[in-house]
Amino acid sequence: MVLSIYDEIVSLRKALHHHNRKYYVENAPEISDFEFDQMMHRLIELEEAHPEYADENSPTMRVGSDKTSEFQNVKHRYPMLSLSNTYSIESLNEFIERIEKEEGETEFVCELKFDGTAISLTYEEGRLVRAVTRGDGESGDDVTANVRTIGSIPLTLTADYPAEFEIRGEIFMPYASFERLNVEREAAGEQLFANPRNAAAGTLKQQQSAIVAKRGLDCTLYQIASRELPFSTHWEALEAARRWGFKVSEHARICHSAEEVRAYIEHWDTARKELPFPTDGVVIKVNDFAKRRRLGFTSKSPRWAVAYKFKAEQALTRLVSVDFQVGRTGAITPVANLDPVLLAGTVVKRATLHNAEQIEALDIRLGDMVYVEKGGEIIPKITEVELSERSADSKPFKYITECPECGTPLVRYEGEAKHYCPNQGGCRPQILGRIVHFIRRKALDIDGLGNETVELLHESGLLNNIADIYDLKAVDLAVLPRLGEKSADNIIRSINTSKSVPFARVLFGLGIRFVGETTAKYLAAHFKSLDAVMNASKEQLLEAEEVGDKIADAIIEYFADEQNRVIVERLRIAGLQFEEEAKVLHSNCLEGKNIVISGKFLDHTRDELKELIELHGGKNQSGVSANTDFIVAGENMGPAKLQKAEKLGVKILSESDFIALIGGENGAPENNTAENIVSEVENKKEDIVVQGSLF
Ligand code: IVH
Repeated sequence: MVLSIYDEIVSLRKALHHHNRKYYVENAPEISDFEFDQMMHRLIELEEAHPEYADENSPTMRVGSDKTSEFQNVKHRYPMLSLSNTYSIESLNEFIERIEKEEGETEFVCELKFDGTAISLTYEEGRLVRAVTRGDGESGDDVTANVRTIGSIPLTLTADYPAEFEIRGEIFMPYASFERLNVEREAAGEQLFANPRNAAAGTLKQQQSAIVAKRGLDCTLYQIASRELPFSTHWEALEAARRWGFKVSEHARICHSAEEVRAYIEHWDTARKELPFPTDGVVIKVNDFAKRRRLGFTSKSPRWAVAYKFKAEQALTRLVSVDFQVGRTGAITPVANLDPVLLAGTVVKRATLHNAEQIEALDIRLGDMVYVEKGGEIIPKITEVELSERSADSKPFKYITECPECGTPLVRYEGEAKHYCPNQGGCRPQILGRIVHFIRRKALDIDGLGNETVELLHESGLLNNIADIYDLKAVDLAVLPRLGEKSADNIIRSINTSKSVPFARVLFGLGIRFVGETTAKYLAAHFKSLDAVMNASKEQLLEAEEVGDKIADAIIEYFADEQNRVIVERLRIAGLQFEEEAKVLHSNCLEGKNIVISGKFLDHTRDELKELIELHGGKNQSGVSANTDFIVAGENMGPAKLQKAEKLGVKILSESDFIALIGGENGAPENNTAENIVSEVENKKEDIVVQGSLF
């Protein structure tokens, strides 16, 4: 029999979907990678020759594309709620008791809490049509093209699935992919991801799906949402999802009592360390859907489920030695060198010790066995010493008194926990650190001058401070090893371009102690010019938003230094921006409105939202007061703020409500007012509860 081209394409797709599922979902491949690749190449070839047979769910779509894409904001048909958290067995018991009081004896399904980022997938006629991130729970980003590259997410389903449904789960990054990614990023000089969760969320928001395809994401599904489901329990729903071709965790269990739930948690608190992917707790859910419907929802989360969060993982290892790093501001940071130990899936060799006080408070000594723990940061910290393993001849740790780089006696400023090397002009890591800080992307963004080049230029006497950058000539650079004429020209071009970088970034680039990116923006917005900042009294400095005593003193100290003033004058002569550019308003729809931004947001930074408020004529307030018009609230809004808002009757908008209010990301609204948006929000809340009962 001779297959038509179309038939061959269809049969290759079917076979590749099948083998993909065997490999990624069931972990039981039936053919070799080589055979798989050969079939894939044949399909690519046929599809390229016959674009008329294109299919967005073809297995060839798994490799992604280099095209950059913007994400559309899509409203969730059913809101994506979150879970309430408990951290102790006692409060978990209270949760179970409350449910059993209302519903009698109850079955619970215990599942691992995967530590990634939530996703909602929509399937129609067995084909993936949409994948949307959680966003603010009401709407999220359409990341379908990226999600199609994740091998364990089926593009087409196998038998007996409903015609249309949504299924939700977690996209996560296994430890192996995470480690590999950070090694690659380190080699490329890129910022590392702090943990697999950030890496998964960051990857999902990549604009090129081909990059996502290479990062090794995985996905597990745990919740079906549809108006009509032929199941009466969660367990049945999980089993059905597995039959349709989804990857559903094999670690879920039905528990019949608080005791069984506790045993499940106890088991996984240890056993999870052996898992190849990150988990941060256990989710306990009522199994019976009828009970779930009766239990209902609070405004944010279901009353029929709770997340038990594990305590951060710890490892015990030996403290071998302590290094002292000197930062660009002269701040000394002690860093512990440890016997390598496995912690939360990665090998840990170093831990931060923060400062002398912390070493003293924990009485950390060389040779001690210490507990290390990972917080949200890349570098773990030492939390405790195992005193029972301390040797009899150990001595209290002696903190250094002189700079390890230049030998200058260290100083301690009042109220500061860290020691500082005061030799700003003569201490090498400080000199280099200030230059490297000045040229970084968020400051003057000078491309091509890497750390090594900065060091070489410093050694050859050409670069001793940030102002020297503007005296560099292409010929000075071209003679350096590994820098040809072309790169030298590029660097000079980039140096010239930096002269038009906005004032706030110049101010940040100066590297004044405690003046970070945000403070620099506030200072620039408040004072409008460098001269005004330089000449401001302490009282005047304190009037700027977010500027307290510490920052004001640091600014005064910086400009009191004659050397710094000379550098600043040279930068002025070089032509850098010393004044804030006047902003062109997008609209005045927020005119007269006092707005508070609170919490963490998914699609914008807090500064971006603040900037948008200003661009639409509104005023940012740092705290809730009687004249606050509304709050734009993200995740984890402070409880104090929430309480105050409730007491004062201040309205709360979500991130997406706010963006809608100002007429979209770039647009200007026609007749939106804060009031009608807020009333829309109130109406929507009713829907949330009604629709929520579907789960
Ligand atoms: S059920 C109504 N099950 O945890 C919410 N969530 O804090 C239903 N998560 O947004 C969620 N593993 O991103 C559920 N086995 C699991 C989970 C899980 C991880 C995440 C999910 C959710 C967050 C809730």
